[in-house]
Amino acid sequence: MEPLAQQSPLSDAIRKHKEFLFPAVATYYAEPVALVKGEGEYVWDDQGNRYLDCFGGVLTVSVGHANPTINAAIIEQTNKIAHTSALYANPNQSDLAEKLAEITPGELKKSFFTSSGTEADDTAIMAAKLATGRNEIVVLRHSYSGRSATALSAVGHSNWRPLSAQVPGIVHARAPYCYRCPYNMTPDNCGAACADDVRDVIETTTTGEIAAFMAEPILGVGGFIVPPKGYFERVYEITRKHGGLCISDEVQTGWGRTGDKWFGIEQWNVTPDIMTSAKGMANGVPIGWTIATPEVADKFPGLTFATFGGNPVSTAAALAVIKMIEDDDLRTNARIVGDYLREKLEELKEKYSIIGDVRGMGLMQGIELVKDRQTKEPAADAVLKVFEQTKREGVLIGKGGLYGNVIRTGMMLNSTKDNVDELVQALDAGFAIC
Ligand SMILES: Cc1ncc(COP(=O)(O)O)c(C=O)c1O
Repeated sequence: MEPLAQQSPLSDAIRKHKEFLFPAVATYYAEPVALVKGEGEYVWDDQGNRYLDCFGGVLTVSVGHANPTINAAIIEQTNKIAHTSALYANPNQSDLAEKLAEITPGELKKSFFTSSGTEADDTAIMAAKLATGRNEIVVLRHSYSGRSATALSAVGHSNWRPLSAQVPGIVHARAPYCYRCPYNMTPDNCGAACADDVRDVIETTTTGEIAAFMAEPILGVGGFIVPPKGYFERVYEITRKHGGLCISDEVQTGWGRTGDKWFGIEQWNVTPDIMTSAKGMANGVPIGWTIATPEVADKFPGLTFATFGGNPVSTAAALAVIKMIEDDDLRTNARIVGDYLREKLEELKEKYSIIGDVRGMGLMQGIELVKDRQTKEPAADAVLKVFEQTKREGVLIGKGGLYGNVIRTGMMLNSTKDNVDELVQALDAGFAIC
C-alpha cells in the first residue's frame, strides 16, 4: 500500500483534544489520529486515510465496526426505550443474564451489570469481601484493573498508578511472566513455580485469611503475559486452601478472544467463583459485567444500584454480539486465524532479532521487542518506530507491557487470513527500519 499522506496541520479534533482534555488522556502516534468512520475491520481518520484496525479500541470492537446486525439491535432498542435504570426489570437485561448463566463455566449464575471494566472489577472485589467477611485481596504484578480507588490499588504497573494505593489490603504476587521468569526457569521445567509466590504473599503479607485472588487469564495491559501450564490450577488450589474466592477478570480475554472457548480461564482447567468482563462484550457500547455463584451473589446485602447497569440498549448490543459469535462460530475463527497470525509472527521473529518473544492465544497476540536477545533490555523506542511505520502502511496496532516494549494485536473475532497478511506486511515494514 502507498504511504499515507502526512497529517498537517492538526485537525480540529486533535487541536481541541490537546487544548480541552486532561493531558493524561494520551494518544498514540507522534501525529495523533482522529477517527471518524469505521466499517468492518477498517477505520478512517478525518484526513480521509483508511486503516486496518488491529487493536479494535483495545480489544473492544469484537465483531467489526458499524456491524449492521449489532447496529440494527441497538437502533431498534433505542427507538423502543433507551433507559430504564435497574429499578425496573427489562427483557434484554433478563435475557442476557440468563444467557450468561448458560455460557459461563461452573456454577456462575447471577449477574450484576455496570458500564465499565473498572466497575465490574470493583463489584467483584466487593462481592468477595462481603461473601467471605474478609478484606484482603491478592492480585498480580503487571495486571490492570481500572482507575477507581479499588481498581487502581490493584493495578500492578506504576505508570498506571497516579496515586499510591487508596484501598488497603490489596497485595501483589509475582506475575507468571515466563519470558522474564524471576526464577530463571523455562515453562517446560518450572512446574509453575511462580504460583507458589501467591502462597508466600498470603503467608507473609496478609492475615493468612484472604477474601479473594483476582487475575486475568492472560495479562492484557501487562503485554499479553501467558502463564505456564498448571499455574492457575496451583494458584486456585492455594487460594481456596486459604479460604479465598477466585475471580477471573475477562475484560480482555472474554467472548472467544483466546480461541475455541468463551472465556480465557476455560483454557486453564479451573472454574472461578466470580468473573468480570466489559470491552468486547457489546462491540464498543459501554457495558460492565460481574457474574458470581449464587452462594456469593446472595451474600451481597442491602441495596446496590448502578444507573446505567443493565441498560436496555447496551444489553441489546451484548445479546446481539453473543448471538453473532455463536451463529458465525467466531470462537473457532479466533483460533484458526489466530494460529495463522501466530505462525506469521514466529516467521518475523526468525527474521528480526529485535523480536524477543511472540506470545498469546487466539486473536490476542503480542510481540515483545528487546535491544538484545541475551540481556532482554526492553526496546520501547523500536515499538514507537514500528507504530509510525505501520501507520504509514495503513494499519493500527496497540502496545503495552510495563516497559512499553510489547506490541499488542487484538484483531476482530471475524478477521480473515487476508487481514492477517495485511497486518504482517505492515509489521515487516516496521521491523525493517528498527
Ligand atoms: C483486564 C482489565 N480489567 C479491567 C479494565 C478496566 O476496564 P475499563 O477501562 O472499561 O474501566 C481493563 C481496561 O483495559 C482491563 O484490561
